[in-house]
Amino acid sequence: MAHALKKLSVQVLKNNNVEAIGAVAARSSHWWGQVKMGPPDVILGITEAFKRDQDPKKVNLGVGAYRDDEGKPFVLPSVRKAEEILHSRHLNHEYAPISGEAAYTEAVAKLAFGDNSPIFSDKSYCTVQTLSGTGALRLGLEFISKYYGKDKVVYLPDPTWGNHPQICNQLGIQHKKYRYFDPKTIGFDLQGALEDINKIPEGSIIMLHACAHNPTGVDPKQAEWKQLSEVVKKRKLLPFFDMAYQGFATGDVDGDSFAVRLFVSEGHQVMLAQSFAKNMGLYGERAGALSFMCGDSQTAANMMSQLKIQVRTMYSNPPLYGARIVQEILTTPDLRQQWLKDVKLMADRIITMRSELRKGLEGAGSKLPWQHITDQIGMFCFTGLKPDQVERLAKEFHIYLTKDGRISVAGLFSKNVHYVAEAMHKVSS
Ligand code: LMR
Repeated sequence: MAHALKKLSVQVLKNNNVEAIGAVAARSSHWWGQVKMGPPDVILGITEAFKRDQDPKKVNLGVGAYRDDEGKPFVLPSVRKAEEILHSRHLNHEYAPISGEAAYTEAVAKLAFGDNSPIFSDKSYCTVQTLSGTGALRLGLEFISKYYGKDKVVYLPDPTWGNHPQICNQLGIQHKKYRYFDPKTIGFDLQGALEDINKIPEGSIIMLHACAHNPTGVDPKQAEWKQLSEVVKKRKLLPFFDMAYQGFATGDVDGDSFAVRLFVSEGHQVMLAQSFAKNMGLYGERAGALSFMCGDSQTAANMMSQLKIQVRTMYSNPPLYGARIVQEILTTPDLRQQWLKDVKLMADRIITMRSELRKGLEGAGSKLPWQHITDQIGMFCFTGLKPDQVERLAKEFHIYLTKDGRISVAGLFSKNVHYVAEAMHKVSS
């Protein structure tokens, strides 16, 4: 092949045909031939496979994206209202400040840490707007590697969101696991987690899912969070919370920030990644935030100055549209009330789908225990299905989910839940 191309280019050169030279050069990459094909994303790759499937019965339970009971993407009424208000203001499109609008970052920090948190009077924190939760994780982990230490190890719950290890890998940060999920009880492995965390070297980073753990849908109880806080403190670990589902665990945004607020009140210098993709349905608008508890106001100001340099050199400044919607909702009392109702509505529909799925499996005659479907919380259910069963669901039933058996319950609706239940029964019996 290489020989044939060489011969062809020589011939082309002889003919002095410039266009053809370009064509030959374009077909044999001089610069990028060493780039290997990468694997599809473990979650978003499922959506790509789903889109390729032409079967009308197809179901996407891969990505965590809320759908209404018709299976359609859902624009929250509070978001629609905020959009109308913003539109009527005829706003311009000037740059946002590098760290995002101050009114936005304050509103989102208050949503996470509580209006009355002392951090707002002593200014011992800093928050920057980020490109949703992933952007916050990336920026935060890069900050750790730059200013805290390249050799620091990040401890991730086992299992965790597929993008956590991937971001660490991209940054060359070592990551290890601590026990989190117990397949025997299909619940939180408190003893395993405490034992493992107790052995983590001092000064390491521990990643914690603030609520609605992804992928298991299993959260520690409040008393268990207290035990976790103690051991994290004893081991002098830096807790990095990922809060992508505030409101989805209990239907209540304050209840869902229990762990974050507890850790802050116990003096941990928490880091927090926030996303408004799920709880405001602003998936594609990329509105999120990264916050640090910095200890004192001078350190907070110093850290903010460095974060701004990081942002400026990556994407200059953050996008406005999603952040404007979030800010409008959080700072307008009527809209905020509407939003709290919207979040509850989404959380409740997911709960209904959990019980419909369980009923469907039991009704189909499955003798396996499915109680965990209704016990787990948040957007996901860790079904316990094995990779070969997941594969059969895709091949035979056109139902798509991640290989680890996680389903996005938000992808179920009245018209497909029984089809999914029967298919799950068929592949698992
Ligand atoms: C998920 O886990 O499905 C979501 O967080 C979406 C994503 O970006 O992976």
